[in-house]
Amino acid sequence: MKKIAPAVPHHIAIVMDGNGRWATRRFLPRVAGHKQGVESLRRCVKACAARDVRVLTVFAFSSENWNRPVEEVSGLMELMVGALGREVPKLSQDGVRLHFIGERGGLSDKMIAGLVQAETATAHNTRLVLNVCFNYGGRWDIARAAAQLAARGEPLTEANLDAAMALAHVPDPDLFIRTGGEQRLSNFLLWQSAYAELYFSDKLWPEFDEAALDDAIAAFQRRERRYGQTSEQLGAVGPRDQQAA
Ligand code: IPE
Ligand code: IPE
Ligand code: MG
Repeated sequence: MKKIAPAVPHHIAIVMDGNGRWATRRFLPRVAGHKQGVESLRRCVKACAARDVRVLTVFAFSSENWNRPVEEVSGLMELMVGALGREVPKLSQDGVRLHFIGERGGLSDKMIAGLVQAETATAHNTRLVLNVCFNYGGRWDIARAAAQLAARGEPLTEANLDAAMALAHVPDPDLFIRTGGEQRLSNFLLWQSAYAELYFSDKLWPEFDEAALDDAIAAFQRRERRYGQTSEQLGAVGPRDQQAA
């Protein structure tokens, strides 16, 4: 019988958690952990592209992260502006298309200009879609979609809401990873993760390397996605094999 390789997740979503603890353990300021987190993201983007993952969505700054100490918030903002300037040309060379997801009101003009420029400069790329969720919250996303429909006088159906959500340009995540040991969603992709496979890693985000990503993908490939059906209904062939066939 022909052996079909199990499919790699099309869309991976990641809560990149644990930067602060990574830094604190090294007696460094928390911002040093976030800096290291950018390195880890770069490595992860390359690894996803190499494994033929087509969409990567990462949580970089939550609506709730404004409640952190001012030095940390301003450090994170500076890091983002700096990363936009430095990383975008390289990402574009690697075929990455960038989207920034989140509330832009409240961000600096410089930051907004950087986000728009990065999106425009990478709009033609097709290898990997990278959605960076910045000043994002899952509840914000749902409420905003509902408000848009209401303003347009459209009925609040599931399909209409889905089309108005911030990630309407990509299919829902298949694999939802959270690093840093916490097992919670922290308001990330509440609507879109309805059928995502959840995977929690104890590794802190700066330590989440290619091998850790491969472990997560391997765990995903062992899952049976039933979408409400029974195992028997899915048949003798595993759901992932069906998908690949
Ligand atoms: C995640 O790392 C990055 C952001 C929230 C910006 P944390 O900064 O939450 O790291 P820990 O959880 O304190 O270790
Ligand atoms: C979630 O991490 C947000 C990001 C990774 C950007 P947090 O560290 O902010 O989440 P909580 O506060 O532990 O739930
Ligand atoms: Mg955290």
